[in-house]
Amino acid sequence: MCAVHNTQLLSGQPVAQQILQSVQQEVVALPGRPPSVVFLRVGEDGASVSYVQQKSKKAAEVGIHSNVRVFPETISEASLLQEIARLNDDPSVDGILLQAPLPKPLSFTNLTNTIRPEKDVDGFCAVHCGRLWQEGDALVPCTPAGIVELLKYYRIQTAGEQVVIVNRSSIVGKPLGALLLQHSEFGNATVTFCHSHTTSLSSITQQADILVLACGKPHAFGKNFVKKGAVVIDVGITRVAANNERGYVLQGDADAEDLMGHAAALTPVPGGVGLLTVAMLMKNTLRAYHLCHNR
Ligand code: GUN
Repeated sequence: MCAVHNTQLLSGQPVAQQILQSVQQEVVALPGRPPSVVFLRVGEDGASVSYVQQKSKKAAEVGIHSNVRVFPETISEASLLQEIARLNDDPSVDGILLQAPLPKPLSFTNLTNTIRPEKDVDGFCAVHCGRLWQEGDALVPCTPAGIVELLKYYRIQTAGEQVVIVNRSSIVGKPLGALLLQHSEFGNATVTFCHSHTTSLSSITQQADILVLACGKPHAFGKNFVKKGAVVIDVGITRVAANNERGYVLQGDADAEDLMGHAAALTPVPGGVGLLTVAMLMKNTLRAYHLCHNR
């Protein structure tokens, strides 16, 4: 097994910057109105408030028009469906994003499936999901698409590698698995999914050449879970109470300190995958603009 002396930190910053710069250049050159996206947020979940703010801010920076609509936790599914139907028919709107998680009993799947595929900038609806698994032309969910961009940027090969993903959600785990299985340069991996019912988790994660962590267990994955020389992609981002101005710090699932000198490379939290989620959303919004204009 190879000796690891230095663990490379895979910053999301230069990757996101490259993507955002190219989106901005394309947006500036568009004729007529800029691309526009509407963010739908239900309730006041702190993390969701912050994510939607970041998305809105980044949109403004690249010249995309955005609008945030906030609804009370008590809103009915029927009222949200009505709002989505209205936005689907509004020619001044290219993209619609419903921020997850939703309060119970609202069904995120039902609601996202009613977003017109051309406007589904998250790529969560059944049409894009199906196209992704068929290796067709899909709008790809932003976090998995961002992870692939990160692997490309740092030239981390996936073909023939054992990839273990500790997540099975439709937002991260499943679409990432679909991408890494594809018959493409940054696909062709052997993919294993782990989840809350997985037994002997560490015996599986220890097999990974590339380990993707997205289970929201702050600093839970140290050396005991990671093969020496593995690449660790940390998608976990949990608010942990702290005695600072904000009252919390953000922590990933990886125990970064423990993995230094053990993992070959690791994405930092914050400053890693999160930046790419937002950058890919801007790229998807620009694609949605083109899809809506070429109807
Ligand atoms: N909640 C956490 N990540 C995401 C995402 O990528 N899109 C949406 N809509 N909600 C999220």
